[in-house]
Amino acid sequence: MRERVQQIISQALQELDATRTLNDLEAIRVKYLGRKGLITLLLRGLGELPPERRPEAGRLINDARASFEAKLQSRGEELAAVERERVLAREVIDITMPGRRPVIGSMHPVTIIYNELERIFSRLGFEVVTGPEIELDYYNFEALNVPKYHPARDIQDTFYVSEDVVLRTHTSPMQVRTMERRKPPIRIVVPGRVYRSDASDASHSPMFHQLEGLAVDEDVTFADLKGTLEIFARDLFGPETEVRFRPSYFPFTEPSAEVDISCIICGGKGCRVCKNTGWLEILGSGMVHPNVLRNVGYDPGKVSGFAFGMGVDRIAMLRFGIDDMRLLFENDMRFLKQF
Ligand code: PHE
Repeated sequence: MRERVQQIISQALQELDATRTLNDLEAIRVKYLGRKGLITLLLRGLGELPPERRPEAGRLINDARASFEAKLQSRGEELAAVERERVLAREVIDITMPGRRPVIGSMHPVTIIYNELERIFSRLGFEVVTGPEIELDYYNFEALNVPKYHPARDIQDTFYVSEDVVLRTHTSPMQVRTMERRKPPIRIVVPGRVYRSDASDASHSPMFHQLEGLAVDEDVTFADLKGTLEIFARDLFGPETEVRFRPSYFPFTEPSAEVDISCIICGGKGCRVCKNTGWLEILGSGMVHPNVLRNVGYDPGKVSGFAFGMGVDRIAMLRFGIDDMRLLFENDMRFLKQF
């Protein structure tokens, strides 16, 4: 009996010494202390011994079991420590390594101007609305009193998507879309991209940006248009800025005016940018044509309105001294990071 116990316990301790992993350790525990484990079976066999031999045999087996459990525990701690070291070595973090700096973009010059324009016009009570760049011929031309034979419809200027769908050539279609949906008083500005079939050069691009303005109410007059645009021009270009209205023609306004500001480069004395005229043309405007009001179901005898449209790219170029429009759309970071 004594020999059998000693043989089992020395074998068990040897196996514990030899294990390399916690998994193997668990397998050894089961082998000796599991339900059919070798030590468990020894204890169970006690009942078959004659009563006078049981106490001594019991003590022997219990001692063996205690030393097995002690060894199991200490070996478990050793292996766990080794495992922890391995994980730490593998997961080493170099806290002195410099972080990766996220690339933060800069504001595009056109966006900067749009933000300023929206600030100026919201302060004057105008609401910002936007609309589709792919537009029905009806809104881009027909409803704006542009007759079928008008040269602006020429295939040379307009990108046609189909017979009655175009890429909008201006933001004016949003005048009509807004008036159709609402009743006066209306005061809106419309930022957005527009398209014309022009070859790119220093001052042209087939895609460019406009800001449309529209105010409709009872008794809106040309004086309101002049006052609004003067406040706008002096806010954007500085309080010294002079504003000049020249008679012009648009199918959707009557009377119409082109608006110039005193040259922001030379102050009006004449320079290369203003081609020695002292003036810079910045927008088209006028009183909303009665036909346009009728097309949206308004009564031109009761309400009137003014409208204007400006090229935002040109304003950005003047403001930032950019002499070639193509620079705005080439995505050259060296250029864009300057603003
Ligand atoms: N839509 C005109 C253009 O693109 C500008 C304009 C807008 C003129 C509103 C008068 C009134 O040239």
